[in-house]
Amino acid sequence: MSMLERMNKARLAILASGRGTNAVRLIEASKEGFFPAEVAAVISDVKDAPVLAKAKELGVEALHLEPGPKKTYLVPEVEKEWVRVLKEYRVDYILLAGFMRVLKRAFFESFANRIINIHPSLLPSFRGLDAQSQALDFGVKVSGATVHFVDDSLDSGPIIMQEPVEVREDDTVHTLSKRILEAEHRIYPEAVKLLVEGRLEIKGRKVKILKEEHGR
Ligand code: GAR
Repeated sequence: MSMLERMNKARLAILASGRGTNAVRLIEASKEGFFPAEVAAVISDVKDAPVLAKAKELGVEALHLEPGPKKTYLVPEVEKEWVRVLKEYRVDYILLAGFMRVLKRAFFESFANRIINIHPSLLPSFRGLDAQSQALDFGVKVSGATVHFVDDSLDSGPIIMQEPVEVREDDTVHTLSKRILEAEHRIYPEAVKLLVEGRLEIKGRKVKILKEEHGR
């Protein structure tokens, strides 16, 4: 990396499908200078997703891209178009924040080890949809939030950071989700900071967190 590149901030894209509280938290964290990166674009597969309006309000470029014919993933031609747009925005890292589709090949060809996700459970428990209800139904005493690298399977890549959240006897999906979301908002900016500072080393399934002086 050249001196000039080093001086430039990393550029992030947030991919989101819904209400966007994590996206907002990450945009705020970048504006506060919590990590040396800026949000170059927020992209949604859902035309009227609230996250798009919220990003615009915060002065961040927000766009809807057509998701194509499938519900749970983007077909290869569509993925290629999304990757083209991400490159046009000169994106370095992709942050999934409530993006409800599994990514496939084109993303990993262009952004290998540069895509991360937040999930509302302590992975590998309760992958997929409605992780908070799954936790309640199973009767676990502790659930939580996980930030992990993304691979081509569902909620399965190497884990960067987790925060446990106690499950209380009187919890409903609403109350548990609320406390998990608070944990998400704490750990996602922390994980992004480590990522953009170059302090995450992936070895197989394990992610080693390097001390500050080893980062880029
Ligand atoms: C968050 O709880 C996030 O962890 C979850 O969607 C919610 C999005 O909320 N993601 C997944 O379940 C991915 N498997 P937000 O739009 O307010 O950030």
